[in-house]
Amino acid sequence: MEDGTIAFYSNTELIDCFSSEFGGPPQILTRAPGRVNLLGEHVDYNGLPVLPMTIDRAVTIAARKRDDHSVTIRNLDNAFAGEAFENVLGLPHSAQGSWINYCKAAMEGINTDRMIESFPGMNILCAGTIPPASGLSSSSALVVATALTYLSVLEQPLRSESQRTDLAALLAGAERYVGVHGGGMDQAIILLGGKECACKINFFPLRVERVPVFRDHLFVICNSLVKADKSGSAVHRYNEGPLTCRLIRALAEKHAQMAFGEEIEIEHLGDLWFGPLCLTNAEVESLFSEAFPQPRTTLAQATAVLGIGEAEIRRKWLGDLPEPDGGYNLQARARHQLTELARVEQGRDCLLAGDAATFGSLMNDSHQSCAHDYGVSSPQLDTLVEVARQAGALGSRLTGAGFGGCTVSLIEKDSLESFANAIATHYYEEYLNLANADPLAQDWVLPAQPVSPADSEYL
Ligand code: GLA
Repeated sequence: MEDGTIAFYSNTELIDCFSSEFGGPPQILTRAPGRVNLLGEHVDYNGLPVLPMTIDRAVTIAARKRDDHSVTIRNLDNAFAGEAFENVLGLPHSAQGSWINYCKAAMEGINTDRMIESFPGMNILCAGTIPPASGLSSSSALVVATALTYLSVLEQPLRSESQRTDLAALLAGAERYVGVHGGGMDQAIILLGGKECACKINFFPLRVERVPVFRDHLFVICNSLVKADKSGSAVHRYNEGPLTCRLIRALAEKHAQMAFGEEIEIEHLGDLWFGPLCLTNAEVESLFSEAFPQPRTTLAQATAVLGIGEAEIRRKWLGDLPEPDGGYNLQARARHQLTELARVEQGRDCLLAGDAATFGSLMNDSHQSCAHDYGVSSPQLDTLVEVARQAGALGSRLTGAGFGGCTVSLIEKDSLESFANAIATHYYEEYLNLANADPLAQDWVLPAQPVSPADSEYL
């Protein structure tokens, strides 16, 4: 797979490979799908709702329990080096950026959460068809697949929707093991999504509402071919969002206290709407305009409002996030939260009403907000969404963390071929200078079909 194309495999092939790698057949087979987010980007870590769906690409794991405490993890794709380690509480990290850390994140989360007395070993063989580092959640699919496999090894397979919900919330926290301050969208949709539907997901506590996708329209994923790897060096770029939002939350809380009384506490920014205050969008907008009167807020201004020193602000919320010239752009980032929330609510209604045209324009607005207010787009993504709109998409936007990876576009079902041809000509060939692009065959343009959520079975 040197050229980056995905190798497809059947379960039988994976099982056979496991047997020859480990000298005996697997006992467990687990599948966890990837996801595409339709609306609601960079809001989940603030407890604001999102609207993703699963896709027909997955991480699959074949596994067998061992009699000792050793864990051996291998990948069907040789580009991902395997590793062996002892299963202990407090698993030491693998090298920064290594895919094994996602497996360890799941195990560590379960080891810490469940009262496990002896930590069993296992042999694991992973395979995947989700294009990696492309914003389609290959990493969270690996976390979920490892978690379900490990729970099966522990003889604690999931039996109910509420156990799935609990696990999704647990894994959202557990994935922070890799150093990313992500939210809970990916684990939730992978564990709770469904066939033929998108999900509106609310957080704290996690709630999922399934909404049918359009009948005559199709969501199509286009890969910008710029890697958007959240592990390794890209961690800092992603974390800028959650870290600055922590400062937004603190300042919003302070202003809410001035307006409504000292006892007001806002644990997540989303509590402004969904907590005891139950503010309307207009009320939050007015609170934000008081809290963020200028485009930028300096650390010095934040200390004056919050009544604590810079070191304390860094310790509590910002960490070592550098202060840009003129301060942090809190005003635009706060506006993105407000407008994206409205788009998710409206998007869900459009799905229910079968209103693809309005949904498309919400996608366009969301891209604009992600690019200009939140700063997570790139020239390639901006070009790709523009090309998609020219090619007839009702709407198009970046999907996932941004900075690279994929876009998602809404098109009429019977126009897939002509849409893919236009993307081939105007993006892959003219913009990226790649000769003879055949994006449907190369897997760069992918019709998104929502599938059933992650599952694990004993063979
Ligand atoms: C990544 C994170 C999610 C979410 C998106 C952006 O996929 O894992 O929690 O924050 O980025 O919407």
